[in-house]
Amino acid sequence: MDTEFLQKCIKKIKVQNIENADVEVINMSPLNMMGKGRQGAVFQFTDDICVKVFGNEEDCEREYYALSLGKESDLFPKVHAKGPLYIAMDIVKGVDIREYLQSQPLTKELSAKLIEMLITFKEIGFERIDHHKRQIYIQPDGNLKVIDVARTVWRDRVYPYPRKLLTSLGEEYKTLFLAHVEELAPELYEEWKHYIQMEEISREIYQTTLSQYKGKELKKRSQKLLTKNIDSTYLSSLEGLVHKVFKEEWVKTMLAIGYEPDEVMNKIDEYWDRREFEFENELEPKWAKEPRRQVDISKPYGKPWTTDKGKQKEKDRYDEKYDRDEKGKKDKNNNQQQSKWNKVMFSERGRRKRRY
Ligand SMILES: Nc1ncnc2c1ncn2[C@@H]1O[C@H](COP(=O)(O)OP(=O)(O)OP(=O)(O)O)[C@@H](O)[C@H]1O
Ligand SMILES: [Mg+2]
Repeated sequence: MDTEFLQKCIKKIKVQNIENADVEVINMSPLNMMGKGRQGAVFQFTDDICVKVFGNEEDCEREYYALSLGKESDLFPKVHAKGPLYIAMDIVKGVDIREYLQSQPLTKELSAKLIEMLITFKEIGFERIDHHKRQIYIQPDGNLKVIDVARTVWRDRVYPYPRKLLTSLGEEYKTLFLAHVEELAPELYEEWKHYIQMEEISREIYQTTLSQYKGKELKKRSQKLLTKNIDSTYLSSLEGLVHKVFKEEWVKTMLAIGYEPDEVMNKIDEYWDRREFEFENELEPKWAKEPRRQVDISKPYGKPWTTDKGKQKEKDRYDEKYDRDEKGKKDKNNNQQQSKWNKVMFSERGRRKRRY
């Protein structure tokens, strides 16, 4: 292998790691890129040798270490040269399992080879005995070869069964592969089944813990919705509540006896405005003085009064003038309507009921 030429090529290739994405590559060398992943990009160097250029030295060291662990086995590509950021190795020929299974069945023989592969992983001391199906190649002679081995070493926690391989097979082939394992290696099958169950239980425990946490968290945060003190905010929310209920019930009553909704709403608003004005200005309500006639809510109510000292007198004057003006105007129909309204809203019985 022409290592000098290799060095020259490597100098003209820049590979940069990108978070959660494949590496970015600037290739000014004459080599063709065969593929890339999160850790590096692979270039064809000769007919049989490729070079993987890494984005960082640690990934390169890791992959080199994993490949060297397996150098006695024929499961991995042979290493020809190594630099701080590259590894030159055999090109793995054949077709990867992902592609293979798109047109070929998962036979018991292939399942057996996959189990053999896992045994070799264990024997050579890989910490993660697991691989994605696209990183496993079937050679023309039927044997398997594996690429991209960096993630099999220098690991703290791993799944104790080949989870990645199983999930990468997809539901149908996973079931079939497990059926083959059950037949070929029953004890191994029982252990994997146990770990799969444990994984499910762990997931359930996590969900329960999470929902308990969420419950507690919500309980704590919902304190914000509570009325803290019995102060003016509390009083005004109570007032708002009473107003709303009162108005709703009032509308229902009026609609029940055949009033137009708009008419009812207008009258209620007028009435409220009037009462609020009296209340805010500490005025004695007119009905308190003249219980029968007092609240003629058909009177228009704008803001005819000021809040100065003579306001009560002014208001009375306004009421009297209004009464005088209105007296002659009302026709018979109007009077009928009015008495119907008053009967409901301002009879002694009604008023007692509606008091707030
Ligand atoms: N020895 C090899 N022989 C042939 N093709 C290879 C070889 N090594 C890598 N490739 C090709 O290059 C691609 C990228 O290589 P590889 O999977 O090793 O990169 P990676 O960055 O480590 O990937 P990942 O993100 O999965 O870790 C592979 O999918 C494959 O197509
Ligand atoms: Mg990798």
